[in-house]
Amino acid sequence: MLNEEAATKAPRTSLHGHWSSRMAFILAVTGSAVGLGNIWKFPYIAGENGGGAFVLVYLLCVFLIGLPVMMSEILIGRRGRRNPVATMALLGEEEGHSRRWRWVGALGILTGILILSYYSVIAGWTLAYVQKSVFGVFAGATAAQVDAVFKNFTGSWFAVGIAHTLFIGFTTLVVARGVERGLEQAVKFMVPSLLLLMLTLLGYSITSGSFAAGLSFLFSPDFSALTWDGVLAAMGQAFFTLSLGMGAVMAYGAYLPKETSIAGASIAVVIADTVIAILAALVIFPLVFANNLDPAEGVGLVFVTLPLAFGQMPGGAVFATLFFVLLAFAAWTSALGLMESAVAYLVERFYRTRAQAALMIGGLIWAIGLGTVLSFNVLMNFRFLKGTIYNNVDYLTSNILLPASGLLITVFAAWVMCRNSTSDELGGGRSSYRHWHFLARFVAPAAIIVIFLQAVGAFG
Ligand code: PHE
Repeated sequence: MLNEEAATKAPRTSLHGHWSSRMAFILAVTGSAVGLGNIWKFPYIAGENGGGAFVLVYLLCVFLIGLPVMMSEILIGRRGRRNPVATMALLGEEEGHSRRWRWVGALGILTGILILSYYSVIAGWTLAYVQKSVFGVFAGATAAQVDAVFKNFTGSWFAVGIAHTLFIGFTTLVVARGVERGLEQAVKFMVPSLLLLMLTLLGYSITSGSFAAGLSFLFSPDFSALTWDGVLAAMGQAFFTLSLGMGAVMAYGAYLPKETSIAGASIAVVIADTVIAILAALVIFPLVFANNLDPAEGVGLVFVTLPLAFGQMPGGAVFATLFFVLLAFAAWTSALGLMESAVAYLVERFYRTRAQAALMIGGLIWAIGLGTVLSFNVLMNFRFLKGTIYNNVDYLTSNILLPASGLLITVFAAWVMCRNSTSDELGGGRSSYRHWHFLARFVAPAAIIVIFLQAVGAFG
């Protein structure tokens, strides 16, 4: 049976108010999107997968899969105007299907918790690097020294554990108090500052790095260096970096005023996110080649290359401090959104207070995160399936859970929802609607399924 509200089709409003402007929404989603995914993760997995061909596939995934999935998430969020679980249940019923679509929202929350468990550990590294920068640890250091600093730090379960505890503790505290009003202001200042600092670093890597070698590594595709698992990683990274498949963008869409163009806002966010990721890679790889470092170094790539550059430039300690503070900030704005949906769910579903819910979720994430903390030291040789505990959590979330939930969300928007509903949200007559409809109906689902099956070797 349809509920009353759905039956009357009254314009639905969110219980928590709406964004003050289109710009506010774009900034909020950009704040969630821009994070460790752009600056830490993208360069390191591009490096591990041979560069050029990976970057090309990544860009295709961002625009042909990420963009339509993002539009689907926002349109679902705006139509339902509730938390992701309730929205999926409501729309599932309203579109004449089933309330069981709520499980897609639940899958997103679970994935968010798992992602935050390691995200917090890496964000903790950036906090520790703020401290190291302030103390001038990198001044004049050689590549070997910077590498040793990284290995010594991550090799200590205690140091990494403390940093993880600090980061998740701080995030929990803020989510518990529900202080998000300041967030818009923070993002307004953070994203442009980060961009400016990246441009400064780019100047440095153009003049002091092997820029030509970096460019050719990133932009001349060598497909023999790319495996199907690499293609899957590129797709997973597209979901991860755009904050898709976790209900995060859906939750933000719930506060979007009716007249804002979903296509326009999505394109702005996708471009901003992509520019920052490419910029990060353009800064990092010339330094890698100039210093004979290994592009496939892995998780430590950013933490080894950038301090090296900072150590050699005038005023480096100041720049380094500023950079790691901004990176920690970027991680923090992403983490807040990541945690919020789980907390909102506990509050609404089980009548917990915000503080109780935040503590429970924060504690759970902290505990799961210990697996990642230990992956770099005590349990570094404990390997199964894809490698360390961290490798497995990362693979499971980015390469399996995010694409799966992205697939379900897009299928829901493009196949289950009727055309009247989607064209009502996206502006039916526009060419952007037709593009979305085609990409979301055919291209994105087919690509997700084919890439996934290829990567698990289903085609032999
Ligand atoms: N997109 C963020 C990043 O690139 C991570 C994130 C994922 C944030 C999912 C929120 C939800 O760092």
